[in-house]
Amino acid sequence: MATNESLFKTCLDRQDDAAWAAALDRLMPAIHPVDQRAVRIWFSFFPLKLHRAVVGADDPARTEIDLALRGRYRLADQVDSSHRFLYGHRFWPGVKLEVNKYLRDAAPDDRPLEDHLREAARRAAETLKTETELVTAITAVAFMTFQQAGAEIFSRPAEARDYTAKWRKSPSQIIAERARDDSQGLFGFLRSVDQVYTVTFREYESDASFRIVNAQDLCTAAANDKRDYRSQDERCIEGPIPVECRTSACGTCWVGILSETSKLDPPTTREVRKMKEFGYAGFTGTPDSPIRLACQTFAHGNASIVIPPWNGRIGRLDE
Ligand code: FES
Repeated sequence: MATNESLFKTCLDRQDDAAWAAALDRLMPAIHPVDQRAVRIWFSFFPLKLHRAVVGADDPARTEIDLALRGRYRLADQVDSSHRFLYGHRFWPGVKLEVNKYLRDAAPDDRPLEDHLREAARRAAETLKTETELVTAITAVAFMTFQQAGAEIFSRPAEARDYTAKWRKSPSQIIAERARDDSQGLFGFLRSVDQVYTVTFREYESDASFRIVNAQDLCTAAANDKRDYRSQDERCIEGPIPVECRTSACGTCWVGILSETSKLDPPTTREVRKMKEFGYAGFTGTPDSPIRLACQTFAHGNASIVIPPWNGRIGRLDE
């Protein structure tokens, strides 16, 4: 007899990226603002269409070449770490346990996906003695991880690691920090060209940032960070952001934007056209898009970004 877990898997497998995006839209008011952009970014980094293209491929190596995939694109390989930029990451071991329990115990029915997410988040919050809005985004992440990684991998206990030590700030502190700009000194208001700001690329680490001059693009600024990133990620040849063309031709430099986008120039017509070609989910083409090309993103203040673990040209899947 089929278990609840396998029935859930069957139900989830009927969903596609559009269905997930619609469920997330409906869920958004229940998610704390600290994770509203973060969860959209996470779902953009791990689209079902890529998972299905790779898992369902007769020749995965060929698919990797056809889609020009580089980096770590399989969610199953990073189940406990893919979401480190979400505030809810600190609750991951408990949320993972609760979602596993929910998938085993609750009967899958014809309720909308977001109703299951809400109920599982409520149960997790109760167990973890926290607010439901703080675990709703990470609960949605858990369901998608179950869908892509499968029951066997998802049911393993969370890796032993410290989920909170490096990021003890409250949600409101994090939101305030994302909005803050570096002081430009007493007469900073007289300067415009040589104002210098900070781009943070891993909020949960203390030294994961680089400096950016007013109106500079993120890739050029990142290239001035001469620390060794290549030994951790072979795509990083100049600074922490993987880069190739610098002209929006390759799609290598896509990033998520956690902070206020009012301090960034909006996407140009070319960026909009090229992003459609690359097929990165989550890019809206609007000024507040959570996904951008770093080489086309010019900053006029501090920014907080997330660097995806992979890049490719998955727009080919839509052709
Ligand atoms: S580096 Fe090629 S698109 Fe930005």
